[in-house]
Amino acid sequence: MNSQDNYSLLPHNTFGIDARATHFVEYDSVEELQAFVRQRIENGDNSPLLHIGGGSNLLFLNNFEGTILHSRMKKIEVTADENDYVYVRVSAGITWDDWVQYAVDSNWYGLENLSLIPGEVGASAVQNIGAYGSEAKDFIIFVDTVDLQTGEIRHFTADECQYGYRNSIFKTSLRGRYAVTYVHFRLSHSFRPNLEYGGLRAAIERAGIEDYNLTASQLRNLIIDIRREKLPDPAVLGNAGSFFMNPIIPRSTFERIARDYPQAPHYDVDADHVKIPAGWMIEQCGWKGRALGPAGVYEKQALVLVNLGDATGKNISNLCEAIQADVESRFGIRIYPEVNFI
Ligand code: EPU
Repeated sequence: MNSQDNYSLLPHNTFGIDARATHFVEYDSVEELQAFVRQRIENGDNSPLLHIGGGSNLLFLNNFEGTILHSRMKKIEVTADENDYVYVRVSAGITWDDWVQYAVDSNWYGLENLSLIPGEVGASAVQNIGAYGSEAKDFIIFVDTVDLQTGEIRHFTADECQYGYRNSIFKTSLRGRYAVTYVHFRLSHSFRPNLEYGGLRAAIERAGIEDYNLTASQLRNLIIDIRREKLPDPAVLGNAGSFFMNPIIPRSTFERIARDYPQAPHYDVDADHVKIPAGWMIEQCGWKGRALGPAGVYEKQALVLVNLGDATGKNISNLCEAIQADVESRFGIRIYPEVNFI
């Protein structure tokens, strides 16, 4: 266990916000985490507790007056291997992309399109991370947690996690209550590439690869290239990936927008709902590449807000509000952050 006081969170948030936590605790086993929680109960300590992963989806508005928890557990274990499927238990503290690389190297398939998403494995199960037509929930079968109020272990089936678009029960009714310790994935021994996302087939063609010859590591590398092309590297320019969620709106609302913007990109969700890219709306509002003080809108992808240097959480949230107001007045749609404000 690593325990520190008055700790700078700079290395723990990809926005690069210089906030501090009163305490910072990293644990190396489930037992250590349980002991920590039980000690708090014994001490009658009700101070705020926040479990973080890679800090790639957080915006610190203030110093954190409480304890930040982080897992240092890093194990990947096969729990079963049956027919076409391998079942793997992965520690929450492993960097997500290290796990994707490990899976591709092991010839376990499914996660290729989720390559290079920042963050750790635990967050993938909270946030239901997604990209290029795949979502973590497509591969998660259950999630092991520790109850931060009692120290007890609880297993959640994927159904119990109530996964939706960038959402789960860990972000809604059980927000902050459970720490994810392990995520159980089911991957396939057969490679069936998911090439539905617009642009993927074109990228394969550009790379001179025939669809039927495509390997999982080639697909992973293509995804990595696409991401690097469009998304800023947090080590260079602080950011938290997509800042907003893409709103899911009634089809009738979309039809109204399409009358004014016949080229409006959109994806069908179901018969009555359409998902509309927030990045496109933000760009239409003229925000792409613009800044408000030290907070900016990334020049290549308007869904990404960036720290242009020494921005505070408040600078970023001011920019967020200005964008929300403009999108709402132009399109009549409220967009909401995907990033968690702390
Ligand atoms: N678009 C614009 N202008 C922009 C950005 C996008 O017009 O500045 C348009 C694009 O031309 C395209 C559409 O919007 O027609 C969608 O853009 P893109 O494919 O870049 O994806 P996105 O909807 O902006 C989502 C995810 C990303 C994920 C990509 C690819 C969310 C909130 N974001 O972005 O996830 O990588 O699709 O699948 O769903 C993340 O969550 O941090 C993230 C990066």
